[in-house]
Amino acid sequence: MARPIELLIDQLWDTYRTINPQADQIHKLLTDRGETIVNDHIAFRTFQDPRIGIDQLAIPFLEAGYQAADEYHFEAKKLYARHFQHEDPALPKVFISELLLDQFPTDFRDLIQGMLDQLPKIETLSEPLCTAGPLWQVPHADYLALSKQSEYAAWMAAHGFCANHFTVLVNALTTLDSLEDLNGLLVKEGFALNEEGGAIKGSPDVFLEQSSTIASVVDVAFRDGVHPVPGCYYEFARRYPLPSGALFEGFVAKSADKIFESTDQKLQN
Ligand code: NI
Repeated sequence: MARPIELLIDQLWDTYRTINPQADQIHKLLTDRGETIVNDHIAFRTFQDPRIGIDQLAIPFLEAGYQAADEYHFEAKKLYARHFQHEDPALPKVFISELLLDQFPTDFRDLIQGMLDQLPKIETLSEPLCTAGPLWQVPHADYLALSKQSEYAAWMAAHGFCANHFTVLVNALTTLDSLEDLNGLLVKEGFALNEEGGAIKGSPDVFLEQSSTIASVVDVAFRDGVHPVPGCYYEFARRYPLPSGALFEGFVAKSADKIFESTDQKLQN
């Protein structure tokens, strides 16, 4: 019988694949080769606000036995993040970031406040916050205005609470020896990769290599109509052993900084 945390992860995947049709296609591409996909981590985005911050999103994971691990700072993007992991290696790590609203000017914060004012009482939600989707509606013009200062904020305005990405653990693949090989296969099959800072972020020196697709474009119902905007992306991670011999289980801020840009409008076309 599946544990509640596994049912939650299945539910997150079901929503994620509708916001990122590439995920199913890549899943099939790999399983058709005989691969069994291991999910390295699931990532969530939010705003730093006591009602919906990292601590709130983490609740169902902490209740399932996850523990808070490292923290990360992204100064240019004005983000703070933490990752959580479970002693059961079959459960993916969880990476939650939050936008530091107090570092933005008033016009920007007013737009975000307009969204936060629409929040229901979080304790009345019938499902975990991380599955709640957008708990607000904004005009498309607000989406565009937010994106000028933070693509991350614009993405949150459009999609709200859901998995921003799932991640294939490259170490667990048996028919591909490296992240380079997986990237080559994906490009050959017509998937576009996020090339910001190079297709592969990180190196064996920092014990982690990552790449990602460019987010799928999906139609989103804004308050004043439906508009196509970047949705979710698929990530790929290869982990390397630390000097102790154990695999590195953390994240590398410099690499994650560029991975965040997988949902930027500038990458579309
Ligand atoms: Ni990630």
